[in-house]
Amino acid sequence: MKVYEICFSPTGGTKKAADMLANEIGKEVQTVDLTDSRTDFSEVSLEENDVAVIAVPSYGGRVPGTAAERLAAVRGNGAKAVLVCVYGNRAYEDTLVELQDTAKQAGFSVVSAVAAIAEHSIARQFAAGRPDAKDEAELHDFADKIRAKLEAEDFSEPEIPGNRPYKKGGGAGMVPKPTKECVKCGLCAEKCPVQAIDKDDPGKVDSKVCISCMRCISVCPHSARKVNSVMLAAVNTMLKKVCSERKECELYI
Ligand SMILES: Cc1cc2nc3c(=O)[nH]c(=O)nc-3n(C[C@H](O)[C@H](O)[C@H](O)COP(=O)(O)O)c2cc1C
Ligand code: SF4
Ligand code: SF4
Repeated sequence: MKVYEICFSPTGGTKKAADMLANEIGKEVQTVDLTDSRTDFSEVSLEENDVAVIAVPSYGGRVPGTAAERLAAVRGNGAKAVLVCVYGNRAYEDTLVELQDTAKQAGFSVVSAVAAIAEHSIARQFAAGRPDAKDEAELHDFADKIRAKLEAEDFSEPEIPGNRPYKKGGGAGMVPKPTKECVKCGLCAEKCPVQAIDKDDPGKVDSKVCISCMRCISVCPHSARKVNSVMLAAVNTMLKKVCSERKECELYI
């Protein structure tokens, strides 16, 4: 049995939570990075006795479209899937059921699902510092329960919350732009999961392609990429009401 971590994590929060689970389920974990636009995901092929922790962030209560497309290309071949949805303390709505459908379409057999919380990648003051020590203890406990289920060869599919048809998706519409501190090093263009930034002129961004994942902001070594401050202030106000009360990790098994 091999353990895989198949993860879409533009700013690292999803990967932190996925690592806490995957490293507790298996000793050696092979990672598949769904943000890498150069990978041919149809060449990623698993076997029936493998286990995959499949982790995505929630974007507007849905699976990010790019993550869904890339995961659908993977060949699950009956491998057991532990689904993970990571969200910024607002809500994850239909993310887990959409991830369930996509993983099954790719040939995985879903044995459990987890919702976890990480720092909100647009408005970073919400869920700041999460997943924290309490989350880590919970996720380790979840991993032990999942491992016990797998060892008992119980491959039943759990009830997972969410609606079908899924809620309407839609981009956040926030396209980060460089500030005058930009030295045109091109790192953001190289790391953009959808190649929306022009390599030769990082000031040029294709706003139709950008998925507002905020990776370009998080990777810039000069803190020279920002979203429009008026839009960000509006998002902060909107999220203040719905993000303030701490939500906890959940396990479906
Ligand atoms: C475009 C976009 C949409 C988001 N939508 C939601 C949401 O609907 N609910 C929520 O709680 N968090 C939302 N978030 C926050 C992310 O789910 C959360 O910060 C996640 O940890 C980001 O994952 P990453 O750090 O792996 O990139 C959104 C973030 C982005 C960039
Ligand atoms: S990573 Fe930062 S400094 Fe480099 S091109 Fe992008 S915005 Fe400019
Ligand atoms: S340009 Fe858009 S899609 Fe690319 S890294 Fe920045 S926010 Fe993400």
